[in-house]
Amino acid sequence: MRIIVGVSGGIAAYKAAIVVSSLVQRGHQVQILMTDGATKFVQPLTFEALSGRPVGILVTDQPAGPISHVKLGQWAEVLAIVPATLGIMSRLALGQPSDLLSLTYMSYRGPVVIAPAMEPKMWLHPRTQEHAAKLSADDTQIVGPVAGHVASGDEGVGRLVDPDFLVRAIEHATAPKALSGIQVLVTGGATWEHFDPVRAITNPSTGRMGFEMAQEAAFLGARVTYVHGPRAADFGTLHPAVTAIPVVSAQEMRQAVWDIVGSVSIVVAAAAVSDFRPVASAKQKLHKSDITGHWEVTANPDILAELGQEYGGNKFLVGFAAETDNVVASAQSKLAAKRLDVIVANPVGASLGFGNYEHRGQIIDRFGGTAVINEGSKEFSAQQIWKRLVELYSQEQ
Ligand code: CTP
Repeated sequence: MRIIVGVSGGIAAYKAAIVVSSLVQRGHQVQILMTDGATKFVQPLTFEALSGRPVGILVTDQPAGPISHVKLGQWAEVLAIVPATLGIMSRLALGQPSDLLSLTYMSYRGPVVIAPAMEPKMWLHPRTQEHAAKLSADDTQIVGPVAGHVASGDEGVGRLVDPDFLVRAIEHATAPKALSGIQVLVTGGATWEHFDPVRAITNPSTGRMGFEMAQEAAFLGARVTYVHGPRAADFGTLHPAVTAIPVVSAQEMRQAVWDIVGSVSIVVAAAAVSDFRPVASAKQKLHKSDITGHWEVTANPDILAELGQEYGGNKFLVGFAAETDNVVASAQSKLAAKRLDVIVANPVGASLGFGNYEHRGQIIDRFGGTAVINEGSKEFSAQQIWKRLVELYSQEQ
């Protein structure tokens, strides 16, 4: 994609360098425009080196050869502003361009992504909110800011969203919102079945797959409920269209799922639910002297199989099967037994699957169709899986 990244003058300007570096590595052409203020925080040379193009700063600058702000506006497929200060937001909202970046914005027609970063008090000021509302009404996508620590030492909503999240928001800016208006439920992470407050049966699943499935669905326009085990949402900025519901045990996950499932059309069960739980769980920490030689366990409910019983053939149900052997055959039998529409079969072993960032597998549908998931990050897998799910889901409607 051809992307203009505008950098305005705030302390978060250094994070724009991470965003630009990542966009370039992902194969995009990036033209940087900086406000004069931004150059006080980061040297233009940094951006020039990262983007491989001269940086535009003054209206008289002609970045990328003899090119005007009008031509820049025609060249770009996406315009992103990282970070956006109150100053640039007000110039854009009021239509008072005074620099190359705001002039380019005025002469550009296409998706715009703005990532504000400022003091929490400034962000919450009614004028700032008016500017943000006005820009949103013009179809400008405002991404963040998020809550956290800001440069002044304060805590509050004013922090730039994570660079990774911004890169994805920029990439999705031109993509059709294939899941717009659709409610999706995703389960993710391992459940923890406690023997006592400090010990539990669990497994090494990090929850990254469920998290990426929830995020990608939201980027595609869905409203998502993400029911997840401990720490399975700790992978950066959560999309605002994702509501995360943390749970610990399989029984809690089952309850949270049944509370919401009536209102969703698609269920993606990516959780690594513990198949067993202790029959008894001590309220206080057990000591060596309390151990009698064996612990009794009992089977947990199969959350997805129960959903299949109730909604199979009615709601669109997607399962995941992590297998060490007979990957496709085992996945196919789970698809049939749990009355699913689709199952994602994943080989797991020493170097793949659980906790590993790399991922590959196959998408098997109930008509016997298969699609291969090319190897890559779990973000890339989630993109491929959703692409296929959207096709299959729309065929069934
Ligand atoms: N699943 C579930 N509740 C369970 C067990 C599994 O919802 N108690 C869901 C998982 O989220 C996944 C699918 O069922 O989408 C398959 O899970 P997996 O652990 O691969 O298989 P199991 O059904 O547990 O069978 P087995 O342990 O025999 O492989």
